[in-house]
Amino acid sequence: MKLGEIYIESCIETLHRMPDEFIDMTITSPPYDDLRDYNGYHFPVEEIAASLFHKTKKGGVVIWVVGDRTVNGSESLSSFEHALEFRKAGFRVHDTMIYAKNNPIPSDCGKRYRQCFEYMFCFSKGQPRTFNPITAPTKSAGQKIKAFRITGVGRGNVPDEDIGREIKSERKVSNIFYYNVGTSSSKDKIAFEHPAIFPERLVEDQILTWTDEGDLVYDCFMGSGTTAKVAHLLNRNWLGSEISEEYVSLAKQRLLPYLAMLEFAAVS
Ligand SMILES: C[S@@+](CC[C@H](N)C(=O)[O-])C[C@H]1O[C@@H](n2cnc3c(N)ncnc32)[C@H](O)[C@@H]1O
Repeated sequence: MKLGEIYIESCIETLHRMPDEFIDMTITSPPYDDLRDYNGYHFPVEEIAASLFHKTKKGGVVIWVVGDRTVNGSESLSSFEHALEFRKAGFRVHDTMIYAKNNPIPSDCGKRYRQCFEYMFCFSKGQPRTFNPITAPTKSAGQKIKAFRITGVGRGNVPDEDIGREIKSERKVSNIFYYNVGTSSSKDKIAFEHPAIFPERLVEDQILTWTDEGDLVYDCFMGSGTTAKVAHLLNRNWLGSEISEEYVSLAKQRLLPYLAMLEFAAVS
């Protein structure tokens, strides 16, 4: 298979042509619940989950970004149905992360709070092979870890062996990630001709966490090419499928300056 290519076809066809155990990481967002009209295209989640399992290397991961539609006042739960399909296909549900939106699009939400997040499921084929966690400074760096009591009988969640140890200067961030959506999520104006683009930072954080340079990142629903752009800039190999010719042409136009920039940097 040619890397650095967006195949204009259903991801099922691309997946069928791939060798087994080929992909290090997939990051994608399916066209769930027909929330938007992508020219009427559909996707069979059971078949995609099974194919992704065969084509993912041992220790590889799939980041599946998905939410739910509200139908007759309640949630569709497609997101959880997808998670169960991936588990049936053989993946572990390694982590259910949240993609929270700093500036969600206002909508009439009836008798409910404003919807501001989607799920970022991390499905893994066995134990993830690569984990480069994002860290943040701790507030009490250098202080000693103390026991604290929540009841008269036991300590809180600090294991005995940690009590008295110095608090590190950095620690892993939590699994809720906040991003701006809309025009501040990418500098590429052309990308917004697609109705549902990923924030670039989301893709960057996930690729950095689960892969190393040179690994292969796949996006089965490439849309405007966000995964391709970010993977390329992070020196990962990439590959994508997108069923709409119109979006592939948009993605290629979007990618052009970045591919040219890197080629120029390589020769200069
Ligand atoms: C949620 S969008 C992905 C947007 C993308 N993450 C981005 O940043 O631009 C889903 C995309 O899947 C495409 N699509 C729908 N069914 C497909 C299929 N079976 N195979 C490949 N692409 C498909 C749609 O045309 C749409 O562009």
